[in-house]
Amino acid sequence: MLSDRVPRDASPNAWAERLARLRVSGAALIDLTEANASRVGLGGPGPAGADALAEAASSRSYEPDPRGLQGAREAIRDYYASRGIAADPEALTLTASTSEAYAHLFRLLANPGDSVLVPAPSYPLFEPIAALENVAIRSWPLAFDGRWHFDALALEAALKDGARAVIVVQPNHPTGTCLDASGIGVLEALCERHGAAIIADEVFGDFAWDERTGGLPSLIGERRVPTFVLSGLSKVCGLPQMKLAWIWTGGPERSSTRALRSLEWIADLFLSVASPVQQALPALLSERGEFQRRVLDRIRQNRATLAAACARHPESEALPADGGWVAMLRLPARHSGEQWALECLDHGVIVHPGHFYDVEHEAFVVASLIVEPTEFAIGVGRLESALSAN
Ligand SMILES: Cc1ncc(COP(=O)(O)O)c(C=O)c1O
Repeated sequence: MLSDRVPRDASPNAWAERLARLRVSGAALIDLTEANASRVGLGGPGPAGADALAEAASSRSYEPDPRGLQGAREAIRDYYASRGIAADPEALTLTASTSEAYAHLFRLLANPGDSVLVPAPSYPLFEPIAALENVAIRSWPLAFDGRWHFDALALEAALKDGARAVIVVQPNHPTGTCLDASGIGVLEALCERHGAAIIADEVFGDFAWDERTGGLPSLIGERRVPTFVLSGLSKVCGLPQMKLAWIWTGGPERSSTRALRSLEWIADLFLSVASPVQQALPALLSERGEFQRRVLDRIRQNRATLAAACARHPESEALPADGGWVAMLRLPARHSGEQWALECLDHGVIVHPGHFYDVEHEAFVVASLIVEPTEFAIGVGRLESALSAN
């Protein structure tokens, strides 16, 4: 009765099963996987955003533009301009979320059975979204030498088997690493040679750990291959509940004009972004500074807590990275990442095992850095207990 695109085997893995059992038993767990800003006391519209939303919600008119309302696209242009990036509103298409943006791009770029390349490790949502669109996901490994790196040779080898697009996440989730300008040039040259488009997920682009102005390197700009840059309110303003994200389209003029026209056609079938949030977007984006300062402050505090814990357990390390909302921890290799995540559960703290993000080797776990700092410190204390007991 059901299609092959939806999963058949919904049985949880050992970690998810133990977590579910602990939750049912009412165990007081500290959750170091929480990355939803609205659940850690961050985010929520400020006064100007709330007023704009209330006013827009009472409007009786509905004049949709499949690309998104002009005023909303201009507000996104202004957001990028404040980072020193020129993003033409005509190159922007609004979607309800970054996840929906991926689905649109898979529909736009790939025929059933075609493949798209993703880095490993990376964000686990690509695979099911691609599967729903009948697109195959293949991964190419990032190199690891104490820090994760873009590996041009590994990408080229993967591209030789054919791919419609290469996804890069800037900064990557969970490694926190970013392509710099020269890495972007190499990526572009490889994609040009192999006829692949670039999809750059820049949802965490504002969250550089060295707090430089203008955020992390963006792929928005003059590009030689069709390029699609994704971001949205979920991370830029900590407003996942508003359901507004966007795609910037660039590259050679003919291909980007055709891509934009086709994206508009796809978006027109759904018209999925509610008008009130589009109307309120200038106000919502104008208030992002305070939210981003609070997030960066938490990240700084929580990274200091982790660094102090790792200093007490020198066989562990919080990996260096460029930015983002999570930290990757390398734990002693006497256990796998999964075993460490299970041990952590037994000590009352939830962290993600590395395999959740397609980390194949070594003992990695991943922790969210936006958790409230006192709670975070208690969670890290429990992680230290797991380390000491094992
Ligand atoms: C790298 C990355 N891209 C996209 C998303 C999803 O964003 P959205 O809420 O806009 O779908 C996430 C969520 O954590 C993410 O980590």
